[in-house]
Amino acid sequence: MLVRKALLQDATNIFEIVNAHTQDGTLIRRPFSEICENIRDFTIALSDSGVFLGCGALHLYGPHLCEVRSIVVKPGAKSQGAGGAILKALIEEAESHSVQSICLFTRIPDFFFKYGFRLVEDKTDLPDKIFKDCQTCPRLHRCDEVSMVRGRIPKVSILGPRDQAEQLVRIAG
Ligand SMILES: CC(C)(COP(=O)(O)OP(=O)(O)OC[C@H]1O[C@@H](n2cnc3c(N)ncnc32)[C@H](O)[C@@H]1OP(=O)(O)O)[C@@H](O)C(=O)NCCC(=O)NCCS
Repeated sequence: MLVRKALLQDATNIFEIVNAHTQDGTLIRRPFSEICENIRDFTIALSDSGVFLGCGALHLYGPHLCEVRSIVVKPGAKSQGAGGAILKALIEEAESHSVQSICLFTRIPDFFFKYGFRLVEDKTDLPDKIFKDCQTCPRLHRCDEVSMVRGRIPKVSILGPRDQAEQLVRIAG
């Protein structure tokens, strides 16, 4: 298996696998244009024969925070180490940027516990994530994901202040 940064030529595979997992809310829908624009965020796994197995992305908010997004492996390729290898590569990428904290929202915390993530009780401790995705999410008022972090919870935010993120979540609830 090979794990490497994605190239623009991988955008179609990424688009197809990510959007095949959006119907039930497992992943956030991402238009093809957005995947192309953010292709440098993505890391992919390929089989020894070069077949695309899966992907994941690292979104940088700033030195205080980044986020693991769109991590997914083809159904036929699960449980063979690809998801873990992609996640490890994203963590190493975050470390190479010296980002203080990696966050994510998920329904499968057990997978992420293995890689040093822990639960964050209050989602509004991550206002940047709330402002980036939650305010436009159709599931805002019935979110069934837990928030997790690896590293310390950031003390600063850049997309909006924490009190406004709290208001947003309270209004939606
Ligand atoms: C989650 C996902 C990416 C894992 O990929 P994978 O290639 O099957 O994972 P790996 O084979 O690398 O497994 C690594 C470890 O995580 C564990 N693991 C895998 N999937 C898991 C899950 N859903 N829940 C808990 N643990 C899980 C494995 O048992 C393995 O543990 P081990 O090292 O102790 O044996 C894959 O199941 C997937 O695509 N799921 C659907 C999309 C999704 O839910 N993405 C997460 C969105 S936040």
